[in-house]
Amino acid sequence: MSLFNILLQSHSGSWAILVILFLITYFTRQKVTLMLQRLFYLIMIVTGVGMLVQLHFPLHYVLKGILAIVLIGVMEMMVARKRKGNPMAAMWIVLIILLVLVLLLAYNVIG
Ligand code: HEM
Repeated sequence: MSLFNILLQSHSGSWAILVILFLITYFTRQKVTLMLQRLFYLIMIVTGVGMLVQLHFPLHYVLKGILAIVLIGVMEMMVARKRKGNPMAAMWIVLIILLVLVLLLAYNVIG
């Protein structure tokens, strides 16, 4: 198996786990899942950047990567803001729009 395939399989096998870890952290305020969630950010970023290098940074996937990093930022903000008891409805809308955009770009449905 090529390096690219290893990166792609790790990447596409990890994103749903990341989303589930985020939901568990958000709703149960677990410290352990928050740590795992952060480990999965790292996996997504490292495998994603690895693929970008191998693909020579095509604009479509660079844009997807940037939106994905913003998505990770929003997940972190949501965990922090919920602890402080801030209103969350707007954050949820942003999170869902970003996740849908990233997935549509990832599977070449748009762009
Ligand atoms: C939470 C964050 C992320 C999610 C949910 C996500 C999701 C996905 C998904 C579902 C795919 C398609 C996999 C497949 O075809 O089986 C993909 C591909 C890809 N992702 Fe991500 N990703 C994330 C973060 C990143 C980051 C941070 C980067 C780069 C900086 C990145 C770069 C790429 C690239 C280059 C591909 C293309 C692989 C191909 O040629 O098909 N991703 N991503």
